[in-house]
Amino acid sequence: MSTFFALLFWFATAVIIIGLGFKIRQYWVTPAPLKIPTTPAPTTKSGVVYRMAKEVIVFESLFKSNKWIWIFGWIFHMSLFLVLARHLRYFQEQPWFLVNVIQPFGKYAAFGMVIGLLGLLVRRIVVDRVRYISSPSDFLMLIMLLVIGFSGIVMSFFIHTDIIAVREFFLNWMGFSISELPFSVPLMVHLSLVALLMIVFPFSKLLHAPGVFFSPTRNQVDNPREQRHIADWAAKLETENKG
Ligand code: HEM
Ligand code: HEM
Repeated sequence: MSTFFALLFWFATAVIIIGLGFKIRQYWVTPAPLKIPTTPAPTTKSGVVYRMAKEVIVFESLFKSNKWIWIFGWIFHMSLFLVLARHLRYFQEQPWFLVNVIQPFGKYAAFGMVIGLLGLLVRRIVVDRVRYISSPSDFLMLIMLLVIGFSGIVMSFFIHTDIIAVREFFLNWMGFSISELPFSVPLMVHLSLVALLMIVFPFSKLLHAPGVFFSPTRNQVDNPREQRHIADWAAKLETENKG
């Protein structure tokens, strides 16, 4: 069992690192030939950084468009962030000070994560318009994250696992050696779905995480009069013609 999970996680880690690497490169080199920031837009680079920060931290555009999705979506994502930060302790001999500080809140963030996900799932089922455009993958993502959350809660609050042994396993795993993983059904469920999450990440809607930073309507400076916006290929043509 330990060997199976070690191999599975090496595979999943390779998929997510290489897959995300490729995707991010693809986003990076895709031309954005037109100036299309959604106005009112910032006129300076630091303004754009502030706009993106608001987008990523408080989900500004979602807030403007739909308060219900915003509240559930925001609770889910912020809780997920706390939960993931709390998980760093499985990968560090001596967790950072901040990781220790958030441990107690991180534990309860699990409920925020599950409540947010349930809200988003109910919306996909009861709102006719949203159900109509929902694909199986939309439901599967939510269900996968819900089961990860539930199995985590089971371990954290009901059927405890030997987390020292889990940490030992992952510290050794990072050094490419395999040690004993404690036997626990919720842990097996948790880890299998986490590996699945890592494997589907580069091929699914979860790509919105890196993708948001490449959105031209959000990341462009509104300065078309001050600075001529010219796509790379057009600039190349221009120099060729001059030459
Ligand atoms: C930079 C980080 C991220 C940002 C800014 C972000 C932002 C958002 C926003 C604005 C939505 C739209 C909600 C909607 O209109 O339906 C969304 C949906 C979603 N996000 Fe993220 N997200 C991030 C990272 C992640 C990560 C790491 C995961 C999971 C591992 C995740 C899982 C989801 C899921 C499952 C949905 C779909 C909810 C639904 O509508 O059914 N997000 N995210
Ligand atoms: C290799 C990666 C992971 C390992 C080794 C792992 C392991 C664990 C363990 C051992 C617990 C029980 C903690 C306790 O008893 O106090 C736990 C809890 C939990 N896990 Fe994970 N997990 C991983 C990834 C994830 C991911 C990616 C998510 C979210 C998408 C997640 C969500 C949760 C939640 C919500 C809890 C309950 C709250 C808490 O104790 O933090 N886990 N995890």
